[in-house]
Amino acid sequence: PMTLTETLEAAIRSIPDYPKPGIVFRDITTLLGNASAFRRAIDELVHPYAGTKIDKIAGVEARGFILGGAMSHQLSAGFVPIRKKGKLPHETVRIAYSLEYGVDEMEMHKDAVKAGEKVILVDDLIATGGTAEGAVKLLQQMGAEVVASCFVIDLPDLGGRRKIEALGVPVRTLIEFEGD
Ligand code: PRP
Ligand code: MG
Repeated sequence: PMTLTETLEAAIRSIPDYPKPGIVFRDITTLLGNASAFRRAIDELVHPYAGTKIDKIAGVEARGFILGGAMSHQLSAGFVPIRKKGKLPHETVRIAYSLEYGVDEMEMHKDAVKAGEKVILVDDLIATGGTAEGAVKLLQQMGAEVVASCFVIDLPDLGGRRKIEALGVPVRTLIEFEGD
């Protein structure tokens, strides 16, 4: 049987020079389209929390929605979308976050989490950690207890993990790509 690392390495597609020269894009669409690899990734993401009470999974637009939906089902938790600004119809909390070049803003509905709720944050990938940091801060601002954050892919050279751990949130990742 293949190890988790072998399974993920085989299922994630690497596209050189996308979106610009020198960048290797780690494409999870091939993982999502591979039934057994997708199931294995979700099983690995949720297994530390099996049997514990998790109120909500918060997913970051857009790939975090796909992973988070499956995790919510598996853990019998609700799902909270964290979206790019201007997409949510009700009252929101908004935060600016840093991207590789420049800043953007993300939002969450104010009533999406209640104070004290246990929440797990999920996204496909952590690089600089700017996106996840913004998401964790939004959740914490609304009083949620962010018990963990998880990502399929870690680009450790970019240091995102430390940024999230500094907010008191453990980081769980399934595969690292060094040199990215
Ligand atoms: C990618 C990825 C993460 C984020 C990680 O999303 O899906 O959300 O970058 O980078 P960071 O750790 O440096 O913040 P992207 O911003 O490309 O947007 P998308 O998911 O909407 O395509
Ligand atoms: Mg993203």
